[in-house]
Amino acid sequence: MKRIGILTSGGDAPGMNAAVRAVTKTAIHNGLGVVGIRYGFAGLVAGDFVTLTAEKVDHMISLGGTFLYSARFPEFAQEEVQKKGVEQLKKHDIDTVIVIGGDGSYHGALALTRLGINSIGLPGTIDNDIPCTDYTIGLDTACNTALEAIDKIRDTASSHHRVFIVNVMGRGCGDIAMRVGLASGADAIVVPERPYDIKEIAQTLTRGFAEGKDHGIIVLAEGVMDADEFRTELLKYGDFDARANILGHMQRGGSPTVLDRINATKMGNYAVKLLLDGKGGLAVGMENGQLETHDILDLFDDTHRSDETLLDINDEMTK
Ligand code: F6P
Repeated sequence: MKRIGILTSGGDAPGMNAAVRAVTKTAIHNGLGVVGIRYGFAGLVAGDFVTLTAEKVDHMISLGGTFLYSARFPEFAQEEVQKKGVEQLKKHDIDTVIVIGGDGSYHGALALTRLGINSIGLPGTIDNDIPCTDYTIGLDTACNTALEAIDKIRDTASSHHRVFIVNVMGRGCGDIAMRVGLASGADAIVVPERPYDIKEIAQTLTRGFAEGKDHGIIVLAEGVMDADEFRTELLKYGDFDARANILGHMQRGGSPTVLDRINATKMGNYAVKLLLDGKGGLAVGMENGQLETHDILDLFDDTHRSDETLLDINDEMTK
């Protein structure tokens, strides 16, 4: 093993840079070279490579986004495109790859392994929607960013006795909403994983106002429905003022939290060690705070399991 290629793919997530830094530093520590592949799998096929040094990644631990840039590149599902990527790697003396991204990126890592380039996947997405792990790099920062925004929204909601429906990211997964909902003391958390009764939510809010509460907060996962649509439905059952607010891409930015920096560093360090052991086709995950690996193929047969106890606890706080 000589040189590791590293790329970030799919939606960016805070902590991706910290993972790239950890891979680079661990590889150099073990006498290996590291090459950054820019723009994900698109850059791999185009040969958009940059040599990484300890100096280049030194300050990256605190930077949001991904300095390697990212791209969605569905063309990499085609074998002839994958082979072009492998040719580029061979041309640059790169014999192993680490992919940081969402579950789509794992297909690419598996394809490379099957073509003789041992590859490891690290879970990098704010959505936390990857099977076989209860944590993804970026989740914690995104939750803290959303929480800070909701705390501010609550100030204005209280001043005007309003209900706010706050739409948070997560694609089809409600994990950000569950965490942020519980942490913000939301009156309701609406997620794709669990059925909800909009009439009951309106009644809870009406009762709250009658008992002297001066605001209402509903945290709505983007995978359920549009926040404006939800507001229209909600107002059919309650006589209060309501506004819809979509937090959007701000949740993907910002300097990573302590947790994301530490976990990204642990995962990056671990991925290099797996490659040094001659492993490939594996996904790194974290369960109950412990690093784990799974065959990438197992991820395709599994689904992510959310910690729905957060919803149960929130129900006890609100009903
Ligand atoms: O996967 C991360 C994510 O931010 C999702 O939460 C969201 O649904 C999607 O990406 C947005 O994608 P784009 O940046 O392509 O609009």
